[in-house]
Amino acid sequence: MSQAPLRIAIAGLGTVGAGTFELIRLQGDLIAARCGRPIVVRAVSARERAKERPLDLSRVRWFDDPLAMAKDPEIDVVVELIGGADGVAKAVIEAAIGAGHHVVSANKALLAVHGTALARAAEAAGVTLAYEAAVAGGIPVIKSVREGLAANGISRIYGILNGTCNYILTSMRETGREFADVLAEAQELGYAEADPGFDIDGVDTAHKLAILTALVYGCEVDFAGVYVEGIRAVSALDIGYADELGYRIKLLGMAARVEGGVEQRVHPCMVPRESPIASVDGVFNAVVAEGDFVGTVLSEGRGAGAGPTASAVVADLIDIARGVFIPTFALPASKLRRLASTPIEHHVGSHYVRLMVVDRPGVIADVAAALRDAEISVEAMLQHGRSPDEAVPVVITTHETTGAAMDSALRRIADLGAVLEPPRRIRIEAL
Ligand SMILES: NC(=O)c1ccc[n+]([C@@H]2O[C@H](COP(=O)([O-])OP(=O)(O)OC[C@H]3O[C@@H](n4cnc5c(N)ncnc54)[C@H](OP(=O)(O)O)[C@@H]3O)[C@@H](O)[C@H]2O)c1
Repeated sequence: MSQAPLRIAIAGLGTVGAGTFELIRLQGDLIAARCGRPIVVRAVSARERAKERPLDLSRVRWFDDPLAMAKDPEIDVVVELIGGADGVAKAVIEAAIGAGHHVVSANKALLAVHGTALARAAEAAGVTLAYEAAVAGGIPVIKSVREGLAANGISRIYGILNGTCNYILTSMRETGREFADVLAEAQELGYAEADPGFDIDGVDTAHKLAILTALVYGCEVDFAGVYVEGIRAVSALDIGYADELGYRIKLLGMAARVEGGVEQRVHPCMVPRESPIASVDGVFNAVVAEGDFVGTVLSEGRGAGAGPTASAVVADLIDIARGVFIPTFALPASKLRRLASTPIEHHVGSHYVRLMVVDRPGVIADVAAALRDAEISVEAMLQHGRSPDEAVPVVITTHETTGAAMDSALRRIADLGAVLEPPRRIRIEAL
């Protein structure tokens, strides 16, 4: 193994780029001892050179053009921390691979869309494409699945993969407040972006899930095949009912091997209050993998922020410095299969349904008839208080049924004159 310093270039000096730069400075001795060689930052690039940054950049080369940096022959590894599924970030990675440099990236959006092609390009060029920081930030989930669980077939993998959503749902439960109110507070506290769409609409979770699915099932990354539903429609009322029924509401990303392909789902779930994932609160993330020999493995930790994300980025750099190279998605890229993502309508599970109905005779019978005709059996029904001719919530939980059957029953229920709002459905997960 080489004793020469591993020379890296960092493209992007924002939260993660600056965090990575600082971690390497502060932990330099420890890293050098563990790798048998130092990791040194030789070059950096960001959009604005004049920007005030709390970093000592006096001993690194500055590149206005990150593409020129990515091709520089004095570099061994390019660390892409710019972000975005396309544009400069993608060009930087392609340029680095083209120049024969290893790549480390935290960019889940890009890997979810271009992961397969980039893995193939990296393999053809004989370089590594590493992305521990792209999924669940500081939790070493990629290593855990790809290396620690490498001897297992994984029947199912799921997790809380977005700290912003988990913070909002936790805060709604703890305070009884509504979504919009808690989102505004999360933005003030810096836990949610000014434009929070990617987080709260489930897209960020879906990016991470698509990457995990490819890794776990040895298939091409299929972001378009992920069913995605975010948390905007979760109400304080539903959180209250979840509590009463013994559940917590969490936004989960879930992948499982099913007949005919792979199932990839992101949506709010009711999870049993006593399940380990139910107590993962606030900004924390967690991932659960179910292996055929190991059983259930849960990893929990911080999914974002400068320190945790830099910790994951530098773990990938340490692998490269040690000469440890593992295929991007655990298999040679040429062996990644195309697996069909099955539609959510095929998913079999139980449901929570909340209706706002006018409390008059016959309404419940009509709702029950719609469920019966779709062959859905009711597990429980809750209605608190009575208020003739006013809207009251009615909550139904069902036994297992297909998504398609539930959709058809809900369409019929929504058309009933006494049902005043679109029915609210949340899937119940047996974890
Ligand atoms: N933040 C987290 O906690 C976290 C966690 C996991 C993964 N990630 C991922 O890590 C990546 C970086 O995230 P971040 O939060 O660090 O982003 P950020 O704070 O917005 O930083 C982005 C950096 O990229 C630079 N940049 C933007 N456009 C550029 C261009 N055209 N050419 C060169 N540099 C350019 C910016 O330059 P200026 O500084 O000059 O503006 C900035 O330094 C993203 O892929 C993100 O999804 C982030």
